Amino acid sequence: MSVKPLRECGPAARIAVIAGDGIGKEVTPESVKAIRSAITSARRQIEFVEFDWGADKFLREGVSLPAGAVEMLANEFDAILFGALGDPRVPSNQHAADILLGLRFKLDLFVNARPVELFHDRLTPLRDRSANDIRFMVFRENSEGLYVGVGGFFKKDTPDEIAVQEDVNSRKGVERIIRHAFDYARRNQLKRVCMSDKSNAMNFAHDLWQRVFKQVLQEYPEIESRHLYIDTLAMEVVRDPRQFDVIVTCNLFGDIISDLGAQLAGGLGLAPSGNIHPGRTSLFEPVHGSAPNIAGKGIANPLGSILTSGMMLDFLGWKSEGDALRNAVRSALQENFVTPDLGGDKGTVEVGDWIAERVADR
Ligand SMILES: NC(=O)c1ccc[n+]([C@@H]2O[C@H](COP(=O)([O-])OP(=O)(O)OC[C@H]3O[C@@H](n4cnc5c(N)ncnc54)[C@H](O)[C@@H]3O)[C@@H](O)[C@H]2O)c1
Repeated sequence: MSVKPLRECGPAARIAVIAGDGIGKEVTPESVKAIRSAITSARRQIEFVEFDWGADKFLREGVSLPAGAVEMLANEFDAILFGALGDPRVPSNQHAADILLGLRFKLDLFVNARPVELFHDRLTPLRDRSANDIRFMVFRENSEGLYVGVGGFFKKDTPDEIAVQEDVNSRKGVERIIRHAFDYARRNQLKRVCMSDKSNAMNFAHDLWQRVFKQVLQEYPEIESRHLYIDTLAMEVVRDPRQFDVIVTCNLFGDIISDLGAQLAGGLGLAPSGNIHPGRTSLFEPVHGSAPNIAGKGIANPLGSILTSGMMLDFLGWKSEGDALRNAVRSALQENFVTPDLGGDKGTVEVGDWIAERVADR
């Protein structure tokens, strides 16, 4: 079956690179190297344009997301390869919120795709589970829910203080993420979609999720659809992850369940993600942050960023190049050519070089 890409960019793509802060600046160049290696081999064209947005610029010039940046990215680039943001010199994290949340919301990147795939048996904390047992995709709604910042304080800083945080769920927002999950399952010939909510307690917001789910699933009769409350899902994912192909849920629950999944498959250093709006400029980032505790030491694990790049290549329709990156990562893990967080003794650049060579030799 030929799989239609989420972004039709043809044989040439333009990628904006925002490495950001801390280890973002160390792992992102390794990703660019790996992609170049994959692309050279396949005779496609890719242009990278780097942007120095991050803490240094914010502290120097007071600029986080420059004026006109969103329009420029939307109009001139196919995708954004992102590192991480966060710097102890900016305790408010203002620049990170402006740039990352700004791009997610203003580019309307409503899909947060977090694949969970165990590449080597030794990496899971689950007993008696092997690589074939842990392979599923989490789709987190990424544009609304509890993260829209609607709310307020009443009687702040008094003993009678009240804090309110609104959970915003639109029919359009719920429908498009549920439909995306089913479309993904259909495109990839996956059999099962599980929607998770807390409709037994959240009887308005998640009643909407229930009704939309029951309506949308009718259009995908070949797919087995299932509902689990989020607390049950958390238990079931740990008890037997083989039950799941695709999970779709709201912003908050997706944030948590995808981190649980990441840990089942080897932890932060390996976890990739995409912030996607099908057909539009989308942003791809490793799940980890800027890791100030190891920044500058040359030991950050670049594999999460490289797997993220694989997702970006899939998004562009360059699946065989994406597979090349994933296969090289699988080999690095098999041969234990890894950084200290995974028990190895290699540096970031050493691992990046090894991956790029492996990709070129394929
Ligand atoms: N998307 C993002 O840009 C993003 C995401 C999470 C956190 N942050 C920011 O990053 C900063 C640090 O946050 P944190 O410490 O909570 O999370 P973190 O992900 O940066 O680090 C958590 C732990 O995991 C380790 N780690 C993370 N990535 C690693 C890698 N690739 N290789 C080896 N070890 C790795 C770190 O050394 C640290 O011990 C904060 O400013 C936070 O706001 C940014």
